Amino acid sequence: MFVEEVGPQGDLPPRVPDDWFVGFHRGLAARFWRAAGATMADADMRLIRELLGLAEGSSVLDVPCGDGRLTVRLAACGYVATGIDLAAGELEHARRAAADAGVDARFVVGDLRALPDVGLVDGVLSWGNSFGYLVPADTARSLTAMHRALRPGGRLVLESHTVAESLLVGGISPQAEYTFGGVRMTATNRYRAAESRMESDYVFEDEDGVIEHACGAHHVHTTGEVVRLLQGAGFRDVVLLDRDVRAPTSWARGGSSRSPRRRSDATAGGTPPAVADRARGTRPCSRQARHTVSPSAFVVRVTPSRAAASPLRRQ
Ligand SMILES: C[S@@+](CC[C@H](N)C(=O)[O-])C[C@H]1O[C@@H](n2cnc3c(N)ncnc32)[C@H](O)[C@@H]1O
Repeated sequence: MFVEEVGPQGDLPPRVPDDWFVGFHRGLAARFWRAAGATMADADMRLIRELLGLAEGSSVLDVPCGDGRLTVRLAACGYVATGIDLAAGELEHARRAAADAGVDARFVVGDLRALPDVGLVDGVLSWGNSFGYLVPADTARSLTAMHRALRPGGRLVLESHTVAESLLVGGISPQAEYTFGGVRMTATNRYRAAESRMESDYVFEDEDGVIEHACGAHHVHTTGEVVRLLQGAGFRDVVLLDRDVRAPTSWARGGSSRSPRRRSDATAGGTPPAVADRARGTRPCSRQARHTVSPSAFVVRVTPSRAAASPLRRQ
């Protein structure tokens, strides 16, 4: 099928290739993202631990793990942590970080489009602006592989910065500029509506004036599409949370007669159910686990106001 799309200034620039991420995370781009990620790693980890709700000794797969900033922290918290990423160079950083921290963590080169089998785990983490890289059919396949990797009752914690309800209502800035780790990144963004695809041309410049160019794309899914993708992958309970985790914005479930929790139920005391369970000293996630044998998913979405606060939240 032929779809012609013309932007406000005429024809859109050439389409960013589907496999733009192959070779993207190296050089100044990788340095920039490592520095940006480091600034929020501890705060991210606090949130992730709450959402995973797993006991020490549980196994967690972090994919894609990048430089291992979260995998290493998971290992330091007592989880059996494995990280998978496409970028071998990032995994070298990850291995060094694990050695420096004195923790055991396993790192495996692998592609979200065909995730390697690293054995069954209790939790899967997809964090840090890593959702929506793939064309939708590959995203569906990657979620199915994550589901397959989870033990019965396990949990996927997925963060998306690009769900349509967050990204599009806030508006996509045509240009954005951020500096981390001495690298200035300028992003020129456009939206390819026929594919709900945000495309960006990046210029990275370091302190010495060295310049590198790259391009990338994020497929923008509505929250409903994400829920359908998760359900299609086999996830049963899907809990949607905002960035502060305290207020599930809505939730959806497949294949169960349990009636949906009302917002007021879910936010009682300001903590989501899994956190409340842990605070009472019961087995983490026990409320979900009692009712659910198939893996469940927590999806954290970033609200527009928060999205503007960081380049990892919005490009
Ligand atoms: C922004 S980083 C986030 C990494 C990590 N989740 C974090 O929060 O620090 C995105 C990572 O995704 C990896 N990546 C991109 N496409 C991938 C793919 N198809 N398969 C595996 N990893 C991929 C990149 O190599 C990069 O390290």
